[in-house]
Amino acid sequence: QAVSFSIRHYCRKTPTKLRISEALSGAKLGENVKVQGWIRSVRRQKSNLFLHVNDGSSLQSLQIVAGSQLSDPLLTFGSAVEVTGVLKESPHQKQPFELEADQLHVAGECNPMDFPFKIKERHSLEYIRQFPHLRCRTNAFSSLLRIRSEATTAINSYFKENGFVQIHTPVITSNDCEGAGELFQVEVKNEEGENFFSVPAFLTVSGQLHLEVMSGAFTRVYTFGPTFRAENSQSRRHLAEFYMVEAEVSFTQSLEDLTKVMEDLFKSATEHVLAHCAEDVDLFHKHVTPGHRDTLDVMMKRRFLVITYSEAIDILSRSSQKFAFPTNWGCDLQTEHEKYLVKHCGNIPVFVTDYPYDLKPFYARDNQDNPAHTAAAVDLLVPGVGELCGGSLREERLDLLRARLEEYLDLRRFGSVPHGGFGLGFERYLQCILGVDNIKDVIPFPRFSNSCLL
Ligand code: 4AD
Repeated sequence: QAVSFSIRHYCRKTPTKLRISEALSGAKLGENVKVQGWIRSVRRQKSNLFLHVNDGSSLQSLQIVAGSQLSDPLLTFGSAVEVTGVLKESPHQKQPFELEADQLHVAGECNPMDFPFKIKERHSLEYIRQFPHLRCRTNAFSSLLRIRSEATTAINSYFKENGFVQIHTPVITSNDCEGAGELFQVEVKNEEGENFFSVPAFLTVSGQLHLEVMSGAFTRVYTFGPTFRAENSQSRRHLAEFYMVEAEVSFTQSLEDLTKVMEDLFKSATEHVLAHCAEDVDLFHKHVTPGHRDTLDVMMKRRFLVITYSEAIDILSRSSQKFAFPTNWGCDLQTEHEKYLVKHCGNIPVFVTDYPYDLKPFYARDNQDNPAHTAAAVDLLVPGVGELCGGSLREERLDLLRARLEEYLDLRRFGSVPHGGFGLGFERYLQCILGVDNIKDVIPFPRFSNSCLL
């Protein structure tokens, strides 16, 4: 008896720590709880103090009601607080629950005059981008980060459910997979002052070659990690450090084996995000990028289209639109072309296949039966962004490869089978589903030329 009394007594005295999302769903209703977070609004009214506190677990903040005796001048917009009290049903609020505080502790002060965000003001993405250390405190960017985290889970789940093995491909490598010369070199000397690796080493531009190695033992593999490109571009869809999802599939017969995976991955991950982050996605679609939900609904409902590069060139050449870059056969498709093609296709994502052989990296498979010299390569173009994925069947025929690259040959010597793969730019995927114009607004700490803040 004595023991059970002391346990009950202990439970009553020690408040249960709750995430604000849990408190908002009424977990521990009527019980003594503790929440911790940052103040989003303060209102002092006669004998009461009302606070809204957010801890990043939800878009919504929890209302705290306290007697004026707990009021403290340090309870300001932006400061960190710990609140203890009883979780109750709320009489007035849209929110069904609120916390009646009996203890308020300011854990971290914040002078609202110095804080770059103003209470109840909606700041633009461009404005908040100037504060990389603080933009996670805004509704839009905290929603973005929750969506980004959930999309990562969704992508991993898709691959797990479809029998892919995740491979941790290296960040430091000695190859330039894409051959585009956009490498960041890793220059470290050992104690003797010699090159640490003995060979030139770089940050990876793609995990493809390592995935290809693994696809010689596992029929389906993928990797999802940071990749680095020293592009000088200041564009709205290029970063120097971005996350890429790459998959490699063995025993492929045609590009269709790959386009099916790309479309299924896109739709399955997006369905998951829409189901698990509805409130956060709505914030974007209603307030940040209004009108984009209709575009996304079309992408989700319709089967993606397929056209060849030659058909794409035909569409562009017949268009009355003036393009800055040429549109004759053999030219690389530029962002302006890609965006036009997607519009032409009614804003339905479109796979463009069979590019001129010379436009694609050495590993792309030669379409030998085709009169025009093309490669079995495919790009997926999506509304607002243009190229989201790039992939190809890989050249597995030794004799054809020999001329192209000596180092690649050993990959093909031992039980080599037809295979193919693709890479999807994760930030461009987030831009695509949310309608965000600038890639710098969908990554926590963007890196691009002349900028490496924090
Ligand atoms: O088309 P890319 O260059 O393909 C490859 O790297 C292949 N090795 C992938 C593979 O087959 N395993 O890049 C793939 C995708 C692009 O479609 C684009 O979405 C994204 O990666 N991407 C970038 N995203 C942001 N910033 C950059 N600088 C990017 N470069 C490519």
